[in-house]
Amino acid sequence: MDTSARHDIILFGATGFTGGLVAEYLAQTLEPGQLSWALAGRDVRKLRRVREALAATNPAWAELPLYQGLSSDSESLRDLAARTRVMLTTVGPYASHGEPLVAACVAEGCDYVDLTGEPTFWKGVIDRHHGEAAAKGLRLVSCCGFDSIPHDLGVLYTVDRLREHGGEGPIEIDGFVRAHGGFSGGTLASALQAMAELRPGASSGRSAPSHGPGGTRSRPRIHFESAIGRWVVPMPTIDPLVVERSTALIGEYELRYGHYMAAKSLPRLAALMAGVGTVFALAKTPARHLLERLRPSGSGPSEEQRAKGWFVVTFVGRQGQASVTTEVRGGDPGYGHTAKMIAEAARCLAEDRDRLPARHGVLTPAAAMGEVLIERLRQTGMEFTVRA
Ligand SMILES: NC(=O)c1ccc[n+]([C@@H]2O[C@H](COP(=O)([O-])OP(=O)(O)OC[C@H]3O[C@@H](n4cnc5c(N)ncnc54)[C@H](OP(=O)(O)O)[C@@H]3O)[C@@H](O)[C@H]2O)c1
Repeated sequence: MDTSARHDIILFGATGFTGGLVAEYLAQTLEPGQLSWALAGRDVRKLRRVREALAATNPAWAELPLYQGLSSDSESLRDLAARTRVMLTTVGPYASHGEPLVAACVAEGCDYVDLTGEPTFWKGVIDRHHGEAAAKGLRLVSCCGFDSIPHDLGVLYTVDRLREHGGEGPIEIDGFVRAHGGFSGGTLASALQAMAELRPGASSGRSAPSHGPGGTRSRPRIHFESAIGRWVVPMPTIDPLVVERSTALIGEYELRYGHYMAAKSLPRLAALMAGVGTVFALAKTPARHLLERLRPSGSGPSEEQRAKGWFVVTFVGRQGQASVTTEVRGGDPGYGHTAKMIAEAARCLAEDRDRLPARHGVLTPAAAMGEVLIERLRQTGMEFTVRA
């Protein structure tokens, strides 16, 4: 398929809260003419307003192409997919809006990145699209935001450091997450949808061992983790599943990964758990719709609130006699830094193609882009370090 006449990147969902931040980031970091990119969404008038705001900071963006696409109209999605080499989508909840676009990208032969943290959607994409995407040499990479880039790439970074320290045999890594930030309407709607679908206890926050040896240390679910001096509890997000798939796709080591939320004190941890538990319980009742109204689509934390956001993920890794503690740090987890993560992931697929691992299909950030993406993210201020 000749893709030379296509755009490098189309941003679908540019009118949303996160999509708007991605558009701003691309407009600030790209030189006009450096890449061919375009904005897409369902409402062309709203798209024009986004473009006007970008052109106010740099008139070169006044001519940015705009395209209309509706997630329920497969023809419009195929038209979009046929116009680009990489599709970047922030149209969510993905369980409601995502799969027709994935199908269009596979049919028209373009790479794809999204921001989902919804396990059911992602598993469906793997089941239904991995084979054809792999056969066509495409890279479809979900979970390119705070879910799950810091965790997935942090584990890869830790594995590489363990090997440098002469580690041999099965690997055990625990990741401990601390973060501060707000949430947007789209994230609230997606989280409520994902929680409504989840059975209690469906994910333990711990990945299955890839080839057998994992789970060698048994500990209570809530415990004081002396390695980081904090109280921790397993975090049932999509991240351990993403790490597990990366391990299987990379296929070079055996890994057991544990994923935890960490807090300074037991009361603080209990408060965090109670908050999540309440939302989880309400997600399964009609009160879900009242919760959704707290943060309508298109709204999210202010610039001032985002400036105060941060995250730190500490990874404690062991492999035979070798052990290492690493950290991944960044700014506002949900939006400021998420916009940079997905934009750099899309640019990585578009610009670094020749340097990427020869893996295709429905991939993870680590399996698709690995160290090449880590290099890019370091330029955005994200830190990957070994703790002394
Ligand atoms: N994993 C992470 O770390 C992370 C972080 C941030 C966000 N997210 C996810 O990203 C997604 C977007 O979040 P957000 O807060 O930016 O949401 P949002 O502000 O509600 O934006 C949603 C976007 O989707 C568009 N859209 C809705 N229905 C559509 C349809 N039928 N066809 C075409 N476009 C449609 C909206 O267009 P209109 O403007 O025309 O309404 C808007 O551009 C959510 O799923 C959220 O969970 C994930």
